[in-house]
Amino acid sequence: MEDNKYLLEMIDIEKQFPGVKALDHAQLKLRPGTVHALMGENGAGKSTLMKCLFGIYKKDSGSIRMDGKEVDFINPRNALDHGVAMVHQELNQVLYRSVMENIWMGRFPKNGPLVDHRKMKEATETVMRELEINVDVTKNIGSYTVSQRQMLEIAKAVSYNARILVLDEPTSSLTQDEVEHLFHIMKKLTADGVGIIYISHKMDEIMRIADDVTIMRDGKWVSTDPTSSLDTDIIIKRMVNRDMSHRFPEKTNQPGDEVIMKVEGLTGKYEPTCHNVSFELHKGEVLGIAGLVGSRRTELLSTIFGSMERGSGTILVDGREVRNRTPKESIRNGFAMVTEERRATGCFPYGNILFNTVIANLRSYKKGPLLSDKAMASDTAAYIDKLKTKTPSQKTLIKNLSGGNQQKVIFSRWLLTDPHILLLDEPTRGIDVGAKYEIYELMLDLAKQGRGVCFISSEMPELIGICDRILVMSNGQLAGIVERGKDFGGIPGEQETIMALQAKYV
Ligand SMILES: Nc1ncnc2c1ncn2[C@@H]1O[C@H](COP(=O)(O)OP(=O)(O)OP(=O)(O)O)[C@@H](O)[C@H]1O
Ligand SMILES: [Mg+2]
Repeated sequence: MEDNKYLLEMIDIEKQFPGVKALDHAQLKLRPGTVHALMGENGAGKSTLMKCLFGIYKKDSGSIRMDGKEVDFINPRNALDHGVAMVHQELNQVLYRSVMENIWMGRFPKNGPLVDHRKMKEATETVMRELEINVDVTKNIGSYTVSQRQMLEIAKAVSYNARILVLDEPTSSLTQDEVEHLFHIMKKLTADGVGIIYISHKMDEIMRIADDVTIMRDGKWVSTDPTSSLDTDIIIKRMVNRDMSHRFPEKTNQPGDEVIMKVEGLTGKYEPTCHNVSFELHKGEVLGIAGLVGSRRTELLSTIFGSMERGSGTILVDGREVRNRTPKESIRNGFAMVTEERRATGCFPYGNILFNTVIANLRSYKKGPLLSDKAMASDTAAYIDKLKTKTPSQKTLIKNLSGGNQQKVIFSRWLLTDPHILLLDEPTRGIDVGAKYEIYELMLDLAKQGRGVCFISSEMPELIGICDRILVMSNGQLAGIVERGKDFGGIPGEQETIMALQAKYV
């Protein structure tokens, strides 16, 4: 009998949702002991394909084989029992339960009818020791940071001793060290013969860690190749099916000297927060904010926006002091903020696209005692078009969109408020290359219209690609501001400058 080369084969998988053919002859073949990247634009069907494997969705047709034998898991429990584990794009943890309870939920070790806490603690500690993760397993999982919780979710999946591990955008909120740690864990697992399916929009990670790459577009299989025969340009081209020779739109305007916002000695009230930060934002400027995860970039913008309390310091807009005690007050002062966890905090899952788009801007649709349906529909349509949001209609519930497309809707909500000063926290995270380009264009457009944009990003190339200046945070303090032309923009060494500043107060 012929040896089976594949650990997993998914062939001709089809899945229809109301109004959307999410999978249309999708295919994936995973070899044991390898990392297989699954790539495609937002809404291409990556998560859906994996959910069909994991028993969350039932495929309409097609075949799934493990070791050559046909399987069709009826639910995640069933998949786990057969050696398939998955880390989801969205964290799904019970924050007020301990780390160990979160890890063993649904399969608590028992002593007779009772949960055996001692055994559970020991088992969890063994897993953590093997993976070299330092946590107190009895503490509530909610007391850990998002990135630590992400690592714990990965540890949980590993604890099932699965032979197939699916990681759906696992690094979106990890620090650089944690990413390295994860790659180390992945290497160990593949050495033991585990097959890993890895979904990510981060090109550099794929080139580094993946053995094979499968590309999907519009629910269809496009190609599968060894990574060594691919490069970033080929991958992008196949994903978007159009020419993307430029990753960044051209900058056509120069910010003036006019100061639109002046921040002086800003310090938050409660730790962890920013300390004594002073800077100016110019009219027409895109000001990047760089820093390591945990450098309090989010805290800086949140303190400006009033979603975190200010301890001391002043903020002037066009020379006039503003208090921005609450987000509501800040919005009245012309601010808008797109938060990093926009899917968790900004989304009304059971609202449709139109509702989620216009909700922050209802005032402007008032027509007498009513709201103008026509204006709301046409604005929603305009932004679906501008950001190329993939949705069957405006009436679709936002929860049924792919992760990246949900983000685009929330993003358009804040653009619609026509802000004077736009604060963006990782606006392109989880967004595919094509859509990133649209977002850069929108930012540059706003700047051109004389607005000011503060733009937090952990991706150096995009900071260098579109910002006029880059403010670098280090451990809650301002470490320095680097300027286009002078410090970057074609001059080699800019990345090193920024990286050195990031570590200044660590
Ligand atoms: N539960 C659902 N009901 C209806 N449509 C859905 C549902 N889940 C996904 N879809 C649709 O199926 C398509 C594929 O979505 P999927 O989440 O698989 O994309 P993805 O490739 O994971 O994208 P992303 O990179 O944004 O996470 C999208 O058009 C999405 O709107
Ligand atoms: Mg997805």
